[in-house]
Amino acid sequence: MTAAVKIRILKQASYEDLTTLQKVIEAAPSYWMRISARLPGRNAAEETFKALPDGKSYVDKFVLGVFDSEGAMIGCADLIRGFPNEETAMLGLLLISEPAQKKGYGKLTYEGIERLILSWKEIRKIRIGVIGTNEVVLPFWKSLGFLETGLRRPYEENGVISENIILEKAVS
Ligand SMILES: CC(C)(COP(=O)(O)OP(=O)(O)OC[C@H]1O[C@@H](n2cnc3c(N)ncnc32)[C@H](O)[C@@H]1OP(=O)(O)O)[C@@H](O)C(=O)NCCC(=O)NCCS
Repeated sequence: MTAAVKIRILKQASYEDLTTLQKVIEAAPSYWMRISARLPGRNAAEETFKALPDGKSYVDKFVLGVFDSEGAMIGCADLIRGFPNEETAMLGLLLISEPAQKKGYGKLTYEGIERLILSWKEIRKIRIGVIGTNEVVLPFWKSLGFLETGLRRPYEENGVISENIILEKAVS
């Protein structure tokens, strides 16, 4: 059985948060190869903090660190409150480092994030996007209650041509 995880909001201004986040991002190389045919760049952590959908402000953006029982960061997530509409929270990324995958941490992390989202009273839905070349994770999301919306957007990154498959879960 996997011990509990701790989730906390990371700070871009913290050198330790930034460097540890970079290491965690780099510790999931298969994922980056599947969606972009290349490894993450040296500024991947900074770019994660910076990325913001049109029309949103940083007040509604949360980069989360996931820590194991010994305090080591084993994963991260990127969450936007109120996107693409006021009643939806967009989970832009959930990543567990490869050595820590398939041990239950992903599920525990999602459950923790869902609890955080439930404290935002206006939110009715959680949305995620799965890139077609990473469809291996679809069973993970479906086991957590996500359903395909039927919405699929063209996706292209560094020569990887695919689709962004949009799934949602109702949470009110
Ligand atoms: C997807 C991811 C977050 C899952 O986290 P994880 O810690 O490996 O998953 P867990 O061990 O918590 O698994 C939870 C459940 O999902 C299932 N599952 C996890 N990954 C799966 C996979 N690739 N294929 C099928 N089922 C999977 C597990 O069997 C488990 O089911 P169970 O509770 O019935 O035993 C993790 O693999 C990851 O970070 N991958 C790389 C980044 C990524 O693709 N993120 C998602 C972007 S949309």
